[in-house]
Amino acid sequence: MVDLVIRGARVWSDAGTRVADVAIEAGEIVDVGADLARGAAEFDASGLLLLPGLIDDHVHFREPGREDKEDFATGSHAAAHGGVTTIVEIQNNAPLMTSRAAVEAKLALVRPKARVNVGIYGSATVASLGKLGEMADYVLGYKIFLAPSHGDAGVDSDEMLRALYREAARAGRPVVVHAEDKATIEKGLAQFSTDGPRGWSRARSPAAEVLAVERALRLCEETGARTHVFHLSAAGSVDRLADAKAKGLPVTGATCPHYLLFSDDDVARVGGLLKVNPSIKGAVDRARLREGIRDGTLDVLETDHAPHLPTEKSAPFNDNPSGISSVDVFLPVLFKLVEEGVLTLDLVIERACRAPARLFGIANKGTIARGFDADLVLVDDRQPWTPRSEDFLSKAKLSPYVGYTLPARVVRTYVGGRVAFGD
Ligand code: DOR
Ligand code: ZN
Repeated sequence: MVDLVIRGARVWSDAGTRVADVAIEAGEIVDVGADLARGAAEFDASGLLLLPGLIDDHVHFREPGREDKEDFATGSHAAAHGGVTTIVEIQNNAPLMTSRAAVEAKLALVRPKARVNVGIYGSATVASLGKLGEMADYVLGYKIFLAPSHGDAGVDSDEMLRALYREAARAGRPVVVHAEDKATIEKGLAQFSTDGPRGWSRARSPAAEVLAVERALRLCEETGARTHVFHLSAAGSVDRLADAKAKGLPVTGATCPHYLLFSDDDVARVGGLLKVNPSIKGAVDRARLREGIRDGTLDVLETDHAPHLPTEKSAPFNDNPSGISSVDVFLPVLFKLVEEGVLTLDLVIERACRAPARLFGIANKGTIARGFDADLVLVDDRQPWTPRSEDFLSKAKLSPYVGYTLPARVVRTYVGGRVAFGD
């Protein structure tokens, strides 16, 4: 008898969805079909949609160091709630992941607490130069901040950046980049910092991102290091990425739902809950990002889940720390983008599961068929859902998605055949 049979869901596949049973044994899918024999456990999923679990290549869970904001128990539960079965986490508070000892200690600390599969990035900083190679077996890539955004992980000298890119290339892991130009932002903030949301958008301008993207692409071309540019927010960045891909550079890009759903007008209206780095830009930028995620210039959808304390996220705009609590609602928000005609369900699976799996060498995910991992999400897409603050399993309970009506909700999430959310 197999461990578990999920019965009667509308099972998604490349060929379309069909009602079927899914049998799971030892963490793997062993059969998909009609009228499968009873399992030791059974779940009646009739009416629900069954999807492969998402892979979120960009979250911040703050452990170790800022467990008051989030930790891997709450963060991974929130991820499972959002339909995510694998996360790749970036430590951007102290201690940064600048050595093999640091990444080993972190994985030993956080993996036992996590309800989902966990990968991490090493920090590529001045302190880790010379140590990227020793981290290679423990990390999926190396995070570089081209400008300080949060904490002090920024690297500013071209020479240092070139050395880090070369070392990452030798280690055989990609460089993952936060692209914002420090000088442009500093100049902008000096000019506009008192103007609240509008000032923030002006200071952290499209040009601030595009300049840094150009720099990241130059470094990619010079060193040959595989480069993945995170959370793109500006039209010009999509254009630069398209050019670089046309030239054959080993580069990929990502964006987040908040850049596809909102514009600077929403930031002006909503305030601090939509304060994030890079800033949410204008409607023209949003339109280009939507086009880029559809045509594949942008490869990956990620949350950049950035938890902050409720007291912080309710502060006046200028005192409000940047970052959006979003992993709890990732898949429902992607359904909203499907409803708006920006994405299709197939594209959701491609950009938020299969593409990150390919990029980071994560095997056996993204397909509901025999031999694949039983990382699965049951979704109720029959009625809308309006999340309340208390629905968030993240410690960061203030989010622009509180009170925001979404077309679907995650009912249950399995990681390796075990219930990670919905028990
Ligand atoms: O808005 C942001 N918040 N952007 C980042 O890059 C970091 C993040 C955080 O960690 O709070
Ligand atoms: Zn981030």
